[in-house]
Amino acid sequence: MIGKAQGAPISITGLGAYVPNRIVTNDELSTMVDTNDEWIMERTGIRERRIAAPEEAFTDLALPAARAALAQASMDAADLDLLLCATVTPDMMFPTSSALLADTLGAKDAAAYDLLAGCTGFMYALVQAYGMMAAGLAERALVVGGDVLSRILDWTDRSTVVLFGDGAGAVVLEKVDKPGFLGFELGADGAGGIHLSLPGSGSRRIDDATGNGFVHMNGREVFKFATRVLVSSAEAVLERCGASVEDVDVYVPHQANVRIMDHAAAKLGIPRERMVVNVDRYGNTSSGSIPLALAEAQAAGRLKEGDLVLMTGMGAGLTWGSALMEWTG
Ligand code: COA
Repeated sequence: MIGKAQGAPISITGLGAYVPNRIVTNDELSTMVDTNDEWIMERTGIRERRIAAPEEAFTDLALPAARAALAQASMDAADLDLLLCATVTPDMMFPTSSALLADTLGAKDAAAYDLLAGCTGFMYALVQAYGMMAAGLAERALVVGGDVLSRILDWTDRSTVVLFGDGAGAVVLEKVDKPGFLGFELGADGAGGIHLSLPGSGSRRIDDATGNGFVHMNGREVFKFATRVLVSSAEAVLERCGASVEDVDVYVPHQANVRIMDHAAAKLGIPRERMVVNVDRYGNTSSGSIPLALAEAQAAGRLKEGDLVLMTGMGAGLTWGSALMEWTG
């Protein structure tokens, strides 16, 4: 699915992010599984990640991120008419985390539902909210992306525990005078889904209980997929919007792994200094990754009015998605 934005301009008017306090370094991980800082740094560029406390669930991370985004947009939660949470680690399957969050925030008039698209969840939810607003079905939306992946990792599996971390980010979307979102591209390839899966997490019965409920990943296949779609999705949205890669001021790829991100930036021809990188400090926070990176870029003064911002996510499904926007400040 690919599309150029049409109709009234819609943009991000508030950004917020939250990560748990606890830092787990590569050295600490090497006391749990057979790994070491050198291997992790060389293959992933990850130095440390944040891990939620036992009592912290997804909405505990989503709430401060959502409050910060609402505050930045000077919006009262009661004025929201749409609230979407993209996560594969909701507090529980139902009630949805979106409904719980809406209640805590006081978003009493908002339609609220969760959306699943693996690490691409935030991008899917962004497009979903944009579409609802462009169609006139909603005026003000809050989109939260985040995960507590530490809950679904097998902490004896060195091939996955080194990659992921916990975190959440949120954006407020509103109608604006300036362009804002210019276009999107989303895609899914279920045939490749087996390469990144969570067996035993749904209605598909798995008789062999080994490893059920934990992330299973074929790292090499996911690596090949990721390096391919980060490039093809970005090129597709740029082409559709009549923009060229030289126009991109800020590039925010899914923070999966520095090697994957560097490969994508080089293939696209985006200078590394235009890419936002925080995977070294947070690891792959799944649906939290892009809004977390955006919020940090903004805090560092890297998002200026008129900047062309390119975001591309990818993950389980297998799924991918890009958005191109002109930052409206
Ligand atoms: N520490 C030390 N050694 C490790 C290790 C770890 N944490 N994990 C795996 N190894 C070992 C393997 O057992 C293997 O050993 P062997 O050669 O003796 O068999 C060796 O390191 C190489 O493993 P391999 O899986 O081929 O490494 P790789 O170069 O493909 O890197 C990933 C592994 C996971 C870093 C890489 O495949 C990757 O980044 N994939 C994408 C993952 C991703 O981004 N997923 C989320 C997408 S949203």
